[in-house]
Amino acid sequence: MQGLEPDEIRALLGLTREFAEQGPRPVLTGRTVATLFFEDSTRTRTSFMLAASRLGATVVDLSGAGTSMSKGETPTDTAQVIEAMGVDAIVVRDKHAGVPSLLHRAVQCSVLNAGDGKHEHPTQGLLDLYTLGESLGLLDSFDYSGLNIVIVGDLASSRVARSTTAGLSALGAHVTLVGPPTLAPRKLSVLGCDVSTDLDAALEDADAVMMLRIQFERGAGRQLAGVADYRVGYALDPERAARLKPGAVVLHPGPINRGVELDTPVADGGRSVVLRQVRNGVFVRMAALSACMATLPA
Ligand code: CP
Repeated sequence: MQGLEPDEIRALLGLTREFAEQGPRPVLTGRTVATLFFEDSTRTRTSFMLAASRLGATVVDLSGAGTSMSKGETPTDTAQVIEAMGVDAIVVRDKHAGVPSLLHRAVQCSVLNAGDGKHEHPTQGLLDLYTLGESLGLLDSFDYSGLNIVIVGDLASSRVARSTTAGLSALGAHVTLVGPPTLAPRKLSVLGCDVSTDLDAALEDADAVMMLRIQFERGAGRQLAGVADYRVGYALDPERAARLKPGAVVLHPGPINRGVELDTPVADGGRSVVLRQVRNGVFVRMAALSACMATLPA
């Protein structure tokens, strides 16, 4: 998402809207998509597979555990092997930043980033943008000028925050990243946003708040005194949610750590658009695959 022009983002969101409102078309009939998830996933992996198959493609699903990577084969060699079998696109997730770029240089087919380390998760960013547009009535313009969006939590580890913030800034929104200094370093302002430690102040004028999971698997827990302390300053509990302005919505990319960053009454409450994010993920991935692979009718 970093580096995409606003018109490029709006074109992808417009294509997403077409799939959401008109349903899938068989634009990938005869094509093959391989999903290579070298790091676990529920939403992204399943939605890419569903998107590709609903567009008519054949889908080959691989994961690190079941491939010859367990014998030492590299991601690059794996991608070249898959391509040699006649695959048209590779969707890749890896715990290391930069793996999609590495594969892109090694193969001729399309490569789509399904999340790389702490770097980017571009289709998550797109589905967050689309869900905000849908929730706040902006699907006709995708102009987010004047919106205040607050993203809270483990920002240092978050590829979602990087992609979503870049996209929101490109479309004109004002973004505030909020967390304790160890998880929300000031250098994140290079993404074109504010960085704050004061959640209650940031929420006063928020049109939407996106909560992020503490990524214990990336060592973020070592940056905290404890979950109880973290919750005092940074959990979205029912009391904080009740102070949001009318119409403000709550997002979470998932998976949620219920009772840590987000409480169940808020996650499942009227302001939550979490499952809409998941639903829109399929349409966004249809748009991304189509944009890379399909010959669309004029
Ligand atoms: N949001 C997200 O990337 O979820 P998964 O890890 O389940 O794909």
